[in-house]
Amino acid sequence: MSSLKNDNYLRALLREPVDYTPVWMMRQAGRYLPEYRKTRSQAGDFMSLCRNPELASEVTLQPLKRFKLDAAILFSDILTVPDAMGLGLYFEAGEGPKFSHPVRTPADIKRIPIPDPEGELRYVMDAVRQIRKDLNGEVPLIGFSGSPWTLATYMVEGGSSKAFTVIKKMMYSEPALLHTLLDKLADSVIDYLNGQIMAGAQSVMIFDTWGGVLTPRDYKDFSLHYMHKIVDGLIREHDSRTVPVTLFTKNGGMWLESIAATGCDAIGLDWTIDIEDAKSRVGDKVALQGNMDPSILYSSPERIRDEVARILSGFGYDKSGHVFNLGHGIHLDVPPENAGSFIDAVHDLSRVYHQ
Ligand code: CP3
Repeated sequence: MSSLKNDNYLRALLREPVDYTPVWMMRQAGRYLPEYRKTRSQAGDFMSLCRNPELASEVTLQPLKRFKLDAAILFSDILTVPDAMGLGLYFEAGEGPKFSHPVRTPADIKRIPIPDPEGELRYVMDAVRQIRKDLNGEVPLIGFSGSPWTLATYMVEGGSSKAFTVIKKMMYSEPALLHTLLDKLADSVIDYLNGQIMAGAQSVMIFDTWGGVLTPRDYKDFSLHYMHKIVDGLIREHDSRTVPVTLFTKNGGMWLESIAATGCDAIGLDWTIDIEDAKSRVGDKVALQGNMDPSILYSSPERIRDEVARILSGFGYDKSGHVFNLGHGIHLDVPPENAGSFIDAVHDLSRVYHQ
């Protein structure tokens, strides 16, 4: 087993005792940091940055140099998988991700390959190996993927969407076709995450950013079912340690019991649910990650501290089972000092809960 200087994040996910509540931030490496913007311009663009293991490692570590974060997250993107499937990912300034070849027809879906993690996606595995080396055992490394449903929204819509009309039309008129796509994506995500684990990721998180736009029944059939399949297919022990799995459905607060029933170790919460309620519903089955509104980071250090205190007391005096985070990614125009106030507040204020 390779040793870790700070394993509070992994311990909290497994509901083992910790010294304080560990904290990291979704999108902690990114445009709100001037040093990130500098490295990105050196790389040329975002995907070139992802494809360069040395530079991907550099930006992964940038937020850890500024803040006392308890975990690092692989610098990459969820859309690497559809890109490896041949959909042609590109980013249009100000418009987010796009695909030159969206999938719409049975022939499109049939044609899609299941990417080999050490083939087309080797650059991601190389980034994981490089980051583990550069982290030198300081904190654990989180690997990640999109959920099949969330990936499918981008692949079918051809990019970001507000109303998801194209994929919903497919869901309601040709459900079997969409299921074929989701099943292929689930198999691809299993291989991709297991590849990351073999390369050195010490926990994995599945981002289901768009599961919350579904009806409860469709959520179970078209999103949760496939995340469950992934949880069942993942390597759960590696290098003599458990590899915890976190599922995050944005706007999924209604469905915590069914998410917990997949056998995941932790559930990521957005800010639309009180952590106290979440804990009373599923706290005996899973750890919870979250859940401060990222927009609080626009306010003052005092206001940030109050909000951290409120969330910590909501989770209460259980010795473990809480990983502090934002309820979604940090906004790109947040002052970095405010992120620092947030992280320090979690560490300062949480110690009393763990004595
Ligand atoms: O959290 C981290 O620091 C790790 C890196 C990470 C990125 N994307 C880097 C990134 C992670 C975990 C993601 C996940 C991701 N990507 C999700 C799921 C999480 C969520 O936020 O809901 C989704 C839906 C995507 C798809 C995606 N990638 C979008 C919509 C965008 C455009 C965002 C925008 O505002 O332009 C990206 C690009 C992207 N991914 C950036 C970063 C740092 C910005 C690229 C840049 O530097 O211009």
